[in-house]
Amino acid sequence: MTGRNALVTGSTSGIGRATALLLAGRGAHVLVTGRDRQRGEEVTDTIRAAGGKADFLLADLSDARSADDLAELALATTGGRVDILVNNAAIGALGATAGFDEALYDSHFTLNVKVPFRLVGALAPAMAEHGSGAIVNITSMAGQFAIPGMAVYGACKAALGMLTKHWAAEYGSSGVRVNAVSPGPTRTPFVAPLGDALEELAAQAPLGYIADPAEIAAAIAYLAGDEASFVSGVVLNVDGGRTAL
Ligand SMILES: NC(=O)c1ccc[n+]([C@@H]2O[C@H](COP(=O)([O-])OP(=O)(O)OC[C@H]3O[C@@H](n4cnc5c(N)ncnc54)[C@H](OP(=O)(O)O)[C@@H]3O)[C@@H](O)[C@H]2O)c1
Repeated sequence: MTGRNALVTGSTSGIGRATALLLAGRGAHVLVTGRDRQRGEEVTDTIRAAGGKADFLLADLSDARSADDLAELALATTGGRVDILVNNAAIGALGATAGFDEALYDSHFTLNVKVPFRLVGALAPAMAEHGSGAIVNITSMAGQFAIPGMAVYGACKAALGMLTKHWAAEYGSSGVRVNAVSPGPTRTPFVAPLGDALEELAAQAPLGYIADPAEIAAAIAYLAGDEASFVSGVVLNVDGGRTAL
């Protein structure tokens, strides 16, 4: 990935952080982004200490304009070329449908669906102009089957899975590949509110354990790289076999 620029949203933590480290280890210049400067700079420092290339871009992706601003900043930082986009940042509050807070509902669809939509709209045309690029969207097994309390989150992830296919069709003839990784239970701060239910959820899958973020990042890096040159429009389940049941 030497010579390529990769923007990974939500790379101050968890799966995004692991992805940033892996892509940088493969030679990419990684744009680490999130709201938390301290955590972001820990990631860029770690990458640089290992001889890699990274910059931190502070961004709170809570509305469409913030996504446009981030895209602009990413293009300015890289001299107009983002080769790899990983749409990873998301929120996932648990809650019953009745009484689900309207503002919280809107925040989910903004960060989890509208922001990736705007980032692709802002960055994919330049990839298409250059004749190459890779976009990886992070969905969830909760977007493929029902998990109690995850209706809003699951609906967002199902939407992102469908957008993956549409974007693969829209940009494929220009050499831009678009895929998704659909993780199962992975040990990050995101799933801390689940408590013991996380172990129970993981135990439902054939492999039966909670993944390390690096196991998800490996699949993301595969789809972002040249080894996946003929792969587009795929939602790759990285969930310990759960969706096979
Ligand atoms: N962990 C799992 O079991 C699991 C399973 C299936 C799918 N996933 C998906 O995997 C992806 C990564 O999740 P994770 O588990 O790695 O979670 P995480 O460790 O909590 O990381 C979430 C990231 O999103 C960023 N973020 C949150 N709100 C943001 C906002 N308003 N603006 C900008 N950035 C924001 C956070 O950065 P800041 O705090 O710095 O803003 C953080 O870097 C998500 O798409 C999630 O849906 C996770």
